[in-house]
Amino acid sequence: MRIGILGAGGMADALGTQWARAGHEVMISGRDAATTAHRAARMTETARGAAVRAGNWAEAAEFGEVTMVAVRQAGLGDVLRAAGAALRGKPLIDVANAEGPGGHDPARPIAPMIREHTGAHVVKAFNLCHVDVWRMTPPVFDGRPLAVPLCGDDPAALAAVRALVTDLGCTPVDGGGLERAALLEATATFMIGLWFGGADAQAVLPPLSHAGV
Ligand SMILES: NC(=O)c1ccc[n+]([C@@H]2O[C@H](COP(=O)([O-])OP(=O)(O)OC[C@H]3O[C@@H](n4cnc5c(N)ncnc54)[C@H](OP(=O)(O)O)[C@@H]3O)[C@@H](O)[C@H]2O)c1
Repeated sequence: MRIGILGAGGMADALGTQWARAGHEVMISGRDAATTAHRAARMTETARGAAVRAGNWAEAAEFGEVTMVAVRQAGLGDVLRAAGAALRGKPLIDVANAEGPGGHDPARPIAPMIREHTGAHVVKAFNLCHVDVWRMTPPVFDGRPLAVPLCGDDPAALAAVRALVTDLGCTPVDGGGLERAALLEATATFMIGLWFGGADAQAVLPPLSHAGV
């Protein structure tokens, strides 16, 4: 599938390289054409020759059958505006987390704001793990493939993102509709707080057999 990525930073690099390696066509985008082209060339090398293209925001939005937005919160509004109408009606993966302590505002979740701005079929995913986890081939811990929750409303968009999760060697998990994306954003903020406090956040949850269901 053709994947247009709004962003050329860590998340674009990690996930875009994996998907290029898996046989998808990938285009990244950034603010400066030369820097973005340099990063795309580096990704092509890491992806063992699977060509990663570089473009501007509008070109990446146009290119993607599926798009992913992976930019800093400070630039999110401007980038979505520059990406323009090409995002409307297409699957769009949102990986964003609020930045910094106190950055998370439960009254203003990011995913529905992206849907409002773009008219895209937004799927929230990949926001719970550090970028280095998305570079692992595959992300498996103690013999268990990483599970990736997805929140979204459009069945075709969810199916496309499920396939991209599987391409990483991960297991997609149904996280409910886009209204539940706010919970994923809050979960990331909570877990990041535990990790930065030195706690093993994974240890706070019991196995399914002891979940009381
Ligand atoms: N890093 C992680 O571990 C991680 C994990 C989960 C989710 N996320 C989320 O993924 C998204 C991208 O994170 P990242 O780690 O890939 O970030 P990054 O490496 O800092 O890359 C940021 C990207 O945002 C673009 N950008 C556009 N406007 C910007 C502005 N005004 N200020 C700063 N950057 C701007 C940058 O463009 P240029 O290329 O032109 O610089 C760059 O492509 C964020 O929403 C973050 O919350 C990150």
